[in-house]
Amino acid sequence: MLSREENELLTRVTGDAAMARLMRQHWTPVALIEEVAEPDGKPLRVEALGDSYVLFRNSDGKLGMLDERCPHRKASLVYGRNEDCGLRCLYHGWKFDIEGKVQAMPSEPQGSPLKDKVRARAYPTLEWGGFVWAWLGEADAVPEFDPPAFAPRNDIPIAILKIRVPANWAQIHEGQIDSAHSSSLHSSDMVPAKVEGAAADEKSWYRPSTDKSPRMQTQTTSYGFHYAAIRKPIRNARTHDYLRVTEFVAPYYSLIPPNNNYNVASVIVPINDEESYFHFIAWGDRKTPTTDEWRAFNRAVPGTDLDAKWRPLRTLENDFWQDRQKMAEGNFTGIDGIPNQDIAMWVSMGGRVDRSTDILGASDLAIVEFRRLMADAARRVAEGGPAIGTEEPRVRQASIASAEGVYPKDVDWRTLSRTASRQAAE
Ligand code: FES
Ligand SMILES: [Fe+2]
Repeated sequence: MLSREENELLTRVTGDAAMARLMRQHWTPVALIEEVAEPDGKPLRVEALGDSYVLFRNSDGKLGMLDERCPHRKASLVYGRNEDCGLRCLYHGWKFDIEGKVQAMPSEPQGSPLKDKVRARAYPTLEWGGFVWAWLGEADAVPEFDPPAFAPRNDIPIAILKIRVPANWAQIHEGQIDSAHSSSLHSSDMVPAKVEGAAADEKSWYRPSTDKSPRMQTQTTSYGFHYAAIRKPIRNARTHDYLRVTEFVAPYYSLIPPNNNYNVASVIVPINDEESYFHFIAWGDRKTPTTDEWRAFNRAVPGTDLDAKWRPLRTLENDFWQDRQKMAEGNFTGIDGIPNQDIAMWVSMGGRVDRSTDILGASDLAIVEFRRLMADAARRVAEGGPAIGTEEPRVRQASIASAEGVYPKDVDWRTLSRTASRQAAE
């Protein structure tokens, strides 16, 4: 349960809201590289934290990101012509380069000084790990980019699915750090098996446990927090525990425990107070699926499961294509695809949930930690303090790793992610 005031701090993510100001002090993953792959290709509308921008790749292959609205009379530049190293507004033909400088102003008399006075605001961008990252904060305070834990190298194999979810960012994060729900919501896709640790094939994920009520332990870190879900394993339950350690790296992503083939992460970027981009990621040097395989496995294929703008075709209005017959035959949810099951829950809660009346249990410990941590972090920004994750000394994000496995009961889970991160660094 949160007070109304804390719920506002946690969930308001546009304009001058403290959480929006906090997020703007981090590099923000605003688009997939595949959306702007072509030089002189179609400009992309980027929406983040309540604002909209235009992202385009110029004739030289360089990215530019400007405010969406033309400085002249505010027509959208998304419909502009992207050619000859600049983006030209359709309305009166003003043309801008990737730095926002005016290249042409055909509606003004020749020699007009206006051309040199006007400048569109341009936002720094870079490409890393399948994403275009943008700096949406103060123009004179651009920090060095620290590679995220899910892409420690720029050439790491990575598969990303993207879905535009009509729900507030915090609802989605709470789903990502809620280990208990997987034993119910995903029970038909994450099945108990006599495996050594979490395993994956092209049909299902396997877990070495049937325990539906994990014990939870959390620990605050400098970058966010981590927690362990501790379950009884199928084998050696008297002497061993099945541990799943999840990392939350504020404000944008979580590292979900890996399986035998790949690591898993999720990245959530608010579009506005009631919509977010959810990205679900498989990555690593072992057996990461291709992007097409990953989207097919998760039923998040554009054209089949999503429209051309990443909106799910399964909606509240069509009951997420829930199949009651399949449920009668044993499928737990009647909804195909692990993320689609999550989305049905997040969206059904309402666009921005009121947390002042929910009833929390012991398995919600990580949710409580997330809310407390981020509401406090937003309050600190509102009071003029630093944003979480920006204070020195910083942990390099590439050294953060989630972990899982069956371990003797005397193993401290807090040491596991350190071991895993050592392996990742090797
Ligand atoms: S509104 Fe863009 S050139 Fe006039
Ligand atoms: Fe889930």
